[in-house]
Amino acid sequence: MNKQKANVIIVGSGAIGLLWYSHFVLNNQNSVKCYLYQSTKRKTLPNEIKFTDINDVTHAIPSNIITQPKSPIDIVLVCVKSYQLNQAIADIQSIISPNTLVITTHNGLGALNTQSNKYLKNNTVLDMLTTHGCLKIANDEIKHTGVGISHLGVKFDTTKKYIESNKQKAISDLLDTTLPAVAWCDDILSKQWLKLAINCVINPLTAVFDIKNGEVANPEFTSIIEQVIDEIVAIGNTKDISLNKVQLLETVLLVAKNTAQNSSSMRCDVQLNRETEIEYINGYIHKLGQELNIPTPKNTELYQKVLALNL
Ligand code: PAF
Repeated sequence: MNKQKANVIIVGSGAIGLLWYSHFVLNNQNSVKCYLYQSTKRKTLPNEIKFTDINDVTHAIPSNIITQPKSPIDIVLVCVKSYQLNQAIADIQSIISPNTLVITTHNGLGALNTQSNKYLKNNTVLDMLTTHGCLKIANDEIKHTGVGISHLGVKFDTTKKYIESNKQKAISDLLDTTLPAVAWCDDILSKQWLKLAINCVINPLTAVFDIKNGEVANPEFTSIIEQVIDEIVAIGNTKDISLNKVQLLETVLLVAKNTAQNSSSMRCDVQLNRETEIEYINGYIHKLGQELNIPTPKNTELYQKVLALNL
């Protein structure tokens, strides 16, 4: 039977966006037609991507660029930084229909604003968390530096389509055959809080003290890390997110150890004088603390210190 190919659009040409695009082109040409989205306002995409895979083999991947698709889009994978998310959703609103599955993947929480929620109110939106390491070496060049796992779960599902487990399996399988491993997660929000805690510790410390991830595990940072985590546990509890301080501490230190030689995304952003995602990391805890009248002094201090680095 001649099954129709799914139309997939990747929004965002950072390391993770190009990593997914390259994998769709290399591994899933039979079932997917994959495009890189380019807004009419920002024409920065290269014609070809140099992708070095995990085995150090370099592939030249032609960019299949699209601005205004003619056929319906099945899946949009939005791989932009948290502070670019609302602009990206506004840019692509004319290409998404209620049948388009929207998947977002970025660090931090609380990035979608009211306007974006309105644009997406008829869609199923999934969140994806990924631990793949990927480096953007140049505008047209990326390198897959570490194999990871991606967790996929429902952010909101107005149409209730993704309550059905066959849909969950179909999308997890499609993404898993593209860039393994992908696992479905019934409680993606708890995973996002865990990732938030990791980012609230590693990202600002590496950026403020200009250190690699591994150095975060040095004893001089223990008391700061414990305070950051205590505050996250207190805020998480008010949102019915049950977090365990000891487990969080262990996980944060394990990630620091496993990525010891890496520079965090926030340290890279600061070094390249780019905007950071601090607003949706420690800034998110700070904002919730203010709303809930719960003090978050350490997260607030780190939030302000990172903001000052960008001045
Ligand atoms: O933002 C990052 O750099 C990563 O999420 C992490 C886990 C801190 C590793 O560098």
